[in-house]
Amino acid sequence: MSQQAKTAVVTGASRGIGKAIAMRLAQAGMNVAACARSENLITEYAHSRIMPVKADVSDPTQVNELVNRVVERFGRIDVVVNNAGITRDNLLMRMSDEDWEQVLQVNLTGTFYVCRAVIRQMLKQRSGRIVNIASVVGVAGNPGQVNYSAAKAGIIGLTKSLAKEVASRQILVNAVAPGYIDTDMTRVMNEQQKQSIVNLIPLGRIGRVDDVAELVYFLASDANQYITGQVFHVDGGLVI
Ligand SMILES: NC(=O)c1ccc[n+]([C@@H]2O[C@H](COP(=O)([O-])OP(=O)(O)OC[C@H]3O[C@@H](n4cnc5c(N)ncnc54)[C@H](OP(=O)(O)O)[C@@H]3O)[C@@H](O)[C@H]2O)c1
Repeated sequence: MSQQAKTAVVTGASRGIGKAIAMRLAQAGMNVAACARSENLITEYAHSRIMPVKADVSDPTQVNELVNRVVERFGRIDVVVNNAGITRDNLLMRMSDEDWEQVLQVNLTGTFYVCRAVIRQMLKQRSGRIVNIASVVGVAGNPGQVNYSAAKAGIIGLTKSLAKEVASRQILVNAVAPGYIDTDMTRVMNEQQKQSIVNLIPLGRIGRVDDVAELVYFLASDANQYITGQVFHVDGGLVI
């Protein structure tokens, strides 16, 4: 089948890494449903062939509606990129129940809802690519982020288990774990904090959204036929 006919869903696609992934997949000829909660999603993609769909991944009803809309419009789903994510940082002893629950709900449970909503369609098609965006802190940990790193470690476990569940139907499931990438999520740091992080990165710079999007594109494409259940760091060598 040609790349032209493929359909992708990218969550958290209104900005940052998700937007770069949506653009990269569209550039490769895929139909892309780009999902996020905010209205600016619509204007962001107003003049492109990407279909913006307003949906909150933490709500299973909205996730099911998103998937139904995509199947109705394009007839299939070949690629899913679970990228929607939030942080609510604090030291464990000061972390509220709400900050714990919200971060788990959007990052981890949202990924579960989307995978569950698309998997029947992919099983029927006997093919598919799922790429879940984790984080190096899900592997290495980070003070102030017990909620976020637990959610991202959970995504890694989900990825490996699901990869084993669906491999017999040629559905390949992988995780990408970015390090520090220049987006709104990391722009809250001041110059001094940024420099101290750069000092820890062997490649000597903060990552760009395209560094992540390029790998996601490879894993989502037909070029990937034999890689599943893996976690790939895109972090300039930060965690080796
Ligand atoms: N930047 C980094 O250094 C870094 C490092 C490691 C991992 N990551 C991961 O990479 C992913 C993208 O991060 P980013 O830096 O691009 O973040 P970002 O700039 O803050 O963008 C996050 C995206 O997720 C969407 N989103 C948030 N909550 C959502 C929800 N409940 N339902 C649907 N969409 C939702 C946001 O759109 P709306 O607000 O419009 O919903 C936005 O499009 C996240 O999973 C993040 O954890 C980032």
